[in-house]
Amino acid sequence: MSNILKVGHPQLRRSAKPIVDVSEHHLQATIDAALTQMVKAGGVGLAAPQVGDPWSWCIVASHPTLRYPDAPYMSPLVMLNPAIVAHSRESESGWESCLSVPGVRGLVSRSVAVDVTYQTRDGEYRAETFKGFVARIIQHECDHLSGMMFLDRVEHTADLMSESEYRRNILQQPTDLPT
Ligand code: NI
Repeated sequence: MSNILKVGHPQLRRSAKPIVDVSEHHLQATIDAALTQMVKAGGVGLAAPQVGDPWSWCIVASHPTLRYPDAPYMSPLVMLNPAIVAHSRESESGWESCLSVPGVRGLVSRSVAVDVTYQTRDGEYRAETFKGFVARIIQHECDHLSGMMFLDRVEHTADLMSESEYRRNILQQPTDLPT
């Protein structure tokens, strides 16, 4: 987790550049290292700017964690050059956090479903629809690729909460759990 850039670092505010050669060795090695870091940090997603990489890719890896106990299981999905091409009209609010903003939660409104185009690590083109929590993660990660963070999406500063207050007030769970 120590290599994940934190809010305030200028790289987190830069737009990611389109990947031309998906097979490039350095890119693939960077993604492998990021996968390891994300798993170690217990994250449900990660985007290139968070590890200081300028290229357009992200990882989506929903699974239940202390921070997201209700998250569905999926194997980590690496998306290269992801683009959200359609948003559902319906949206819903949910509490988000980010490995780049430790200890803070924010209430963010997101579309309940999104259509996404992306390339796999093998360069295959895909178009898929994602719903619910996975759609939320994708919108969060695609924001990172445009230099945006969930903090920018919080409507009122009153919708920010420390992780410990979130657990106490929203999850109604003890705050002394190991994190
Ligand atoms: Ni994030």
